[in-house]
Amino acid sequence: MHHDVMKVKEKKDRYRVCYMSGDDSGYDMMEGALLVLEAMDLPIDWVRADLGWCMWEKSAAKFGEGDPRCDTVPPETIESIRNTDAALMAAITSKAGVKGFKSAILQLRQLFDLYINLRPAKSLPGIGTPLKGDPKIDIVMFRENTEDLYSAVEFYPLPAEQFDLHPGMERFKKCGEVAVSWRVFSEEGCRRIIRAAFEYALRTGRKTVHCCNKANVIRQTDGMMKRIFLEMAAEYERHGIRGIEENADATAMWLIKNPQDYSVIVASNVFGDILSDEASQLTGGLGFAPSGNIGTGAALFEPSSGSVPKYAHKYRVNPSAMLLTSKMMLEYLGLDEHAARIERAIGEVLAANEPGTLTYDILRDFRGDPDWEKNAAGTMDMAAAIARRVDPSFVGARLESAKAKVRAMCDWTETVGFE
Ligand code: IPM
Ligand code: MG
Repeated sequence: MHHDVMKVKEKKDRYRVCYMSGDDSGYDMMEGALLVLEAMDLPIDWVRADLGWCMWEKSAAKFGEGDPRCDTVPPETIESIRNTDAALMAAITSKAGVKGFKSAILQLRQLFDLYINLRPAKSLPGIGTPLKGDPKIDIVMFRENTEDLYSAVEFYPLPAEQFDLHPGMERFKKCGEVAVSWRVFSEEGCRRIIRAAFEYALRTGRKTVHCCNKANVIRQTDGMMKRIFLEMAAEYERHGIRGIEENADATAMWLIKNPQDYSVIVASNVFGDILSDEASQLTGGLGFAPSGNIGTGAALFEPSSGSVPKYAHKYRVNPSAMLLTSKMMLEYLGLDEHAARIERAIGEVLAANEPGTLTYDILRDFRGDPDWEKNAAGTMDMAAAIARRVDPSFVGARLESAKAKVRAMCDWTETVGFE
């Protein structure tokens, strides 16, 4: 029997968790999340690592720009992820047009074979959807995370001999330069993501699994995915789980019309990238969107959002996405009670609606507050309000010393990497 990748490899009394604050707003959200985690007596020893644009700059300063050792992920960080039980990562900044730049998260997904991108979208109290009738949404998306157009097999310009690989390329011979990105699906890749989705449905009592594909047009890749999905659906039917395959464009439409009809969704990498952002928009937007990258080599939890550099030193981001991400990590470690407390506490703060506890995005998008800029709470204010719901005695000196502790844990001047 295989080890279930959705759960930590080995049960322990204490876990070592690698935390990475990322860039820009990443620091704010990591501090906020750590503050709430401090309010619980968690059996976790934290191990600091760094990655992202900050590390690119550090390596460029050390080795010189253009040096092949320049990277967003230092070797020390890879070691830390390898030697801990789970990893928690805040948002990182990507810069377009920087020569040799390699995205940290894309590298880690390949390096640790993180083939599941788990992206839940669930309604929270006091956070409506832009939809009529405010449907209750509880979707868990399984996005394939290593193949498809993310395989990074790309050509520009296309070498001459490749024009003869397929008769369909004939018409492009007269079109000037041609760029090609391979869309690679493997049977193993399809099988393991679809299996993960069905197994999750089985374990959590969910009744349907939708598979989004475009097999009617993209016959080989999506055709393979659809075939394997239907085979497996027949296997899980006797457990009372219905497998529904659907065109991805139809899913994009129905998600907006009838999101309550979806429970588990399995999708290939690119479709999942797009559909998970759409689903997150139905349940509060990226300020509330967690995700987990899980596979054979590690489990790395990160919010779906970017590091919003243009807001980083202006507005303080909503800590909820990072907290719901931490919740997923706690579930991975088997700390389900603690995980549930986090979600409950966020819901209570949202429902209570007290002044000075909600970040700008919530006031602007869900409370219709015309003075949202003035009234917005900072990341730490909202985190403190959530922490107080986790433990009412998390106030006064205890709160202040925890704040100082998590600040020091994230302080950028202490970054490690490329030593
Ligand atoms: C995501 C992001 C990433 C992706 C980017 C930042 C590389 O959009 O996690 O959804 O495309 O997978
Ligand atoms: Mg995305």
